[in-house]
Amino acid sequence: MKHPAALLTLTVLTTSLFAQAADPERARNLAATCANCHGTNGRAVAGSGIDPLAGIDKRVSLQKLADFKNGQRPGTIMPQITRGYSDEQLELIAAYFATQK
Ligand code: HEC
Repeated sequence: MKHPAALLTLTVLTTSLFAQAADPERARNLAATCANCHGTNGRAVAGSGIDPLAGIDKRVSLQKLADFKNGQRPGTIMPQITRGYSDEQLELIAAYFATQK
């Protein structure tokens, strides 16, 4: 064994990556960061003037999020928020809200 430390690092890295992918609550936890403004599980408060996210088709939400992220669509807050997530995380979030009623 020439590089035991490298092997250990690799093991730790792959283990944590696997643990992340295997976490069934991951999408829900990511989506929870949207609740302050878009309501619990994306059910916006009536009359709040904010768009609900629950039940919106995944591709539709994902496109809107991508437009905010790449600057196609202006916004007060969403451009900053979407840039804080990877494309893979946004996909998980959009998929999660699509399943909410
Ligand atoms: C601080 C409040 C706030 C948070 C947190 C927030 N949003 Fe928003 N969201 C807004 C506002 C305000 C708009 C209107 C666009 C703008 O001004 O940025 C909006 C617009 C949107 C839209 C477009 C709705 C439509 O039908 O046109 C989507 C999709 C969206 N948000 C998704 C999300 C997701 C997903 C999260 C969590 C990752 C999130 N938002 C977190 C405030 C927020």
